[in-house]
Amino acid sequence: MFLGQDVVLDSREEKTIKEAIQQMVPWRKGPFNLLGEAVDAEWRSDLKWERVKKVCGSLQGKVILDIGCNNGYYLYQIAKQNPKYLLGIDPVVPYYLQYEMLRQFCALPNTDYFLMGVQDIVHMPKTFDVVFCMGILYHHPDPVGILRTIFQSLRPGGMLIVESLGINKPGSYCLFPQNRYTKMPGHWFVPTKEALENMLRRSGFQYIDTFFETKLLNEEQRKTDLCPVDGLTDGLDPCDQKLTVEGYEAPWRYYVKARRARIRR
Ligand SMILES: C[S@@+](CC[C@H](N)C(=O)[O-])C[C@H]1O[C@@H](n2cnc3c(N)ncnc32)[C@H](O)[C@@H]1O
Repeated sequence: MFLGQDVVLDSREEKTIKEAIQQMVPWRKGPFNLLGEAVDAEWRSDLKWERVKKVCGSLQGKVILDIGCNNGYYLYQIAKQNPKYLLGIDPVVPYYLQYEMLRQFCALPNTDYFLMGVQDIVHMPKTFDVVFCMGILYHHPDPVGILRTIFQSLRPGGMLIVESLGINKPGSYCLFPQNRYTKMPGHWFVPTKEALENMLRRSGFQYIDTFFETKLLNEEQRKTDLCPVDGLTDGLDPCDQKLTVEGYEAPWRYYVKARRARIRR
């Protein structure tokens, strides 16, 4: 995503931008292009957004929350549709600082970024028309608690977009790793598609629709110069790519749309 105006920089300005980008490593979400300087992040967030935007409908004039907004990649995408108000929340300071840097290139109207966690939206009942909860649920020990909190924060008729890591198995259950999953810490409940849909249903949501699913591919998450950490393939069993190095099912991604009904059936 290109941020900034189409200007020709002198060599001193180019050097300043390159250094600023380097100081903000690791870049997890992107890609960005800052006045001609490429920011190749670990995640190709543009691929996720292409899938999601097709099912969102118009976001114009809506009040929108992006949970775990990281450096604001999706805030920039959503802002293109001119929402009434856009709030990004994320409690991790280095990501907020990346966002502040990006804002020097391109401001976001009607947008706030609060350094707070999903648990804090309990103080915002019936506030949002649309909530994005992408890449969050499996990182939290209480995914159903989160979904219930999100449900309360939506206006009746409001829409939730969930994107989650999962496993591709029949049945309604979650993998609960002994410790790490694909070498990564911080994974708690990794659901099957059915379990994810059930979590939503039992949290009060209706009109639940899994609109996209995919095996997580290395082209979507990979090591780059600006995010020099292990990518997906480092966490898979080299002899059997259907398994992680810990011997669990390899990761899949599920994309689900759900609604807080106007009147509960
Ligand atoms: C896997 S990333 C997903 C980022 C982005 N939503 C996406 O889909 O690409 C998880 C994000 O959640 C943030 N996070 C961590 N704890 C959180 C919390 N308690 N509430 C909300 N976000 C949190 C992290 O800082 C990180 O930016």
